[in-house]
Amino acid sequence: MAAKSTAVYETVPLHREGLTPPPLAPASVPGHVACVMDGNGRWANSRGLPRTEGHRVGESTMMDVVAGAVEIGIKELSVYAFSTENWRRSPAEVRFLMGFTREVLRAQTDDLLAWGVRVNWVGREPRLWRSVLSELRRSERITAGNETLVLNMCLNYGGRAEIADAARALAADVEAGRITASSVNERTIQRYLYSPSMRDVDLLIRTGGEQRTSNFLMWESAYAELYFSDLPWPEFDRTRLWHAVEAYAHRERRFGGAVDVVTGAGTPHGPGVTA
Ligand code: IPE
Ligand code: IPE
Ligand code: MG
Repeated sequence: MAAKSTAVYETVPLHREGLTPPPLAPASVPGHVACVMDGNGRWANSRGLPRTEGHRVGESTMMDVVAGAVEIGIKELSVYAFSTENWRRSPAEVRFLMGFTREVLRAQTDDLLAWGVRVNWVGREPRLWRSVLSELRRSERITAGNETLVLNMCLNYGGRAEIADAARALAADVEAGRITASSVNERTIQRYLYSPSMRDVDLLIRTGGEQRTSNFLMWESAYAELYFSDLPWPEFDRTRLWHAVEAYAHRERRFGGAVDVVTGAGTPHGPGVTA
């Protein structure tokens, strides 16, 4: 058997059946996609397996989605790996998730490096295992020079915690006289978030059938297009990501604006009805 190649990839591994992304104008591809990778536990349990098996299979989905994101030209991908609320799970599942995340980072950083991906941890430090934090820092260091795709690993992340942490740091700077209260605006708040250079989320995908955002990137997703898939995360893959991106490309984003385009004689509430 041939030894595993250590050659640097020129590109990401292609889809196993040779499928390629749909042809889309670069301007229709979302710059920043966020994924709530949900449904692992239910997927495993419905197959007679413990929840942890769902997390294991979810690792390859994540790598396939990263490869698909690079292929279609997404510049930033945020994955929700562990929320500030996930500490409510059983100690055994929390322990598994911490240890497993550390293993995933250790095992996948070389591939991510070769694919041009820069790893960026997004989350808060309290409670996060030291060993996970140092693995995150290691991946960040190793991939720091990459520019093809930023992969935000959201771990021990909560949207409200992020805004509260930003407010605390900002209040401390006001107290210390480094900034005046009257100068605070949206841009100021952005500077105090975990990752100030993060783009606004364009497309937020949640797998697993639930239609909620569960405290993910609240500030950054204020104007994101939402896409819900009933597939559990272990069954999601890059082709499903591409479907979501195609759906996004057909959305009309107005950001509160409006254009007067008169197209017919209907009533304001529906098609024209003649008595
Ligand atoms: C998402 O899958 C992964 C994490 C929260 C770490 P779940 O573990 O929430 O799986 P379900 O939603 O219970 O099926
Ligand atoms: C959101 O999924 C968190 C992650 C995917 C890491 P959850 O399964 O924790 O969210 P809820 O409990 O359905 O809101
Ligand atoms: Mg869940």
